[in-house]
Amino acid sequence: MNLRRSKMWADDAAAALLDRLHERPEMRMCLATGSTPLPMYGRLAQSPDAFAAAAVLLLDEFGDLPADEPASCDATLRRALIDHVRPADYRAIVTAHPGEPAAVDAWIDAGGLDLAVLGIGVNGHLGMNEPGAPADGRTARVDLAPTTMEGAQRYFEGRARPTWGVTVGLGDLLAAGEVWVLAAGESKADIVRRSTDGPVTTAVPASLLQRHPNVTWWLDR
Ligand code: PGA
Repeated sequence: MNLRRSKMWADDAAAALLDRLHERPEMRMCLATGSTPLPMYGRLAQSPDAFAAAAVLLLDEFGDLPADEPASCDATLRRALIDHVRPADYRAIVTAHPGEPAAVDAWIDAGGLDLAVLGIGVNGHLGMNEPGAPADGRTARVDLAPTTMEGAQRYFEGRARPTWGVTVGLGDLLAAGEVWVLAAGESKADIVRRSTDGPVTTAVPASLLQRHPNVTWWLDR
């Protein structure tokens, strides 16, 4: 496990991702939204050609949002990155389609995931894999934990109160060739410590990453 702590974590992570893309332009990656990765995506958006051969899968999406909701995970990732870099393939998650989890799994099975770029919830969730989610889970419709519903209010400002979502499962995140977790701010310090140094348990989904051979934590100080 690599722990990278720096004031410049967003620049460093963006530079590392551009290096990976240089080595492997057709890289297949799963990308988180939330607020944490946005500074990194801002840097990457300035390299519009780097993603020309890459394939991007959205990590998760909230259920029951109006189609034009600007804070959906899809709209957020498009605005921050996808619209600027136009990857060869971009796969969002349409939560209204009952067959969507199986379709997302088929996308993953078509070539695996070289890299998963994740945030972390204050309860240790990865994507919408809340405490107790199965370590071998695949894409699924899931209920959100209370802290996740509360946290989502930062994005929706009262326009929507999602209680569920569809997320790529822990099984596929743990099977990715490389996993990055981005975390910034005092509010994440305790859960980062528990995830990296505490017991490995599905009660703290991010602690399962201790079993992964190639994980980098990109952290602010
Ligand atoms: P945040 O969300 O980046 O907005 O803090 C992360 C998460 O809940 O996974």
